[in-house]
Amino acid sequence: MKLSEEMTTALNDQIALEMTASQFYLSAAGWCEISGYDGGAAYFYAQADEEREHMLKIIKFMNNIGVRAITPAVSQPNVNPTSLEDVISMSLANEQAVTVAINDILSLAYKLSEYSVIEILEWFVAEQVHEESKFEAILQKFETIGRDGLAVAEIDRILATSPTED
Ligand code: FEO
Repeated sequence: MKLSEEMTTALNDQIALEMTASQFYLSAAGWCEISGYDGGAAYFYAQADEEREHMLKIIKFMNNIGVRAITPAVSQPNVNPTSLEDVISMSLANEQAVTVAINDILSLAYKLSEYSVIEILEWFVAEQVHEESKFEAILQKFETIGRDGLAVAEIDRILATSPTED
């Protein structure tokens, strides 16, 4: 099966975006670890792996249908938040940008009547609902538990045992 040039480009761009997200979370994990947030570090290391899985999902989809996916270049992010809450906020913004990108590809698929990609894109649409919700839920904890040292330590402890996936 072939994909249009436009769709091939869009999916390759998404592969690169997922890789960029993986690198972003890897950098976030490093910041957490250096800052003494072991729970946050564990959470973001897992999130970085999850984003790599997202990248692989698209790569394998493309290669399986005979459209060679482009292996993306590795970006070098430098995530320097001001607090644990800030890095969660940055993560939510990151996910919101990914959601826009996924929605744009789905719109393109319908515009081009390229229905072979709908199933995988719908998986990503659902995944983005989950991704945004989980970061919103963590942010909510700063409202309910607080922002003083003990409260932030408790949120970090919660992150240590929170799965990044359903
Ligand atoms: Fe793969 Fe978190 O978006």
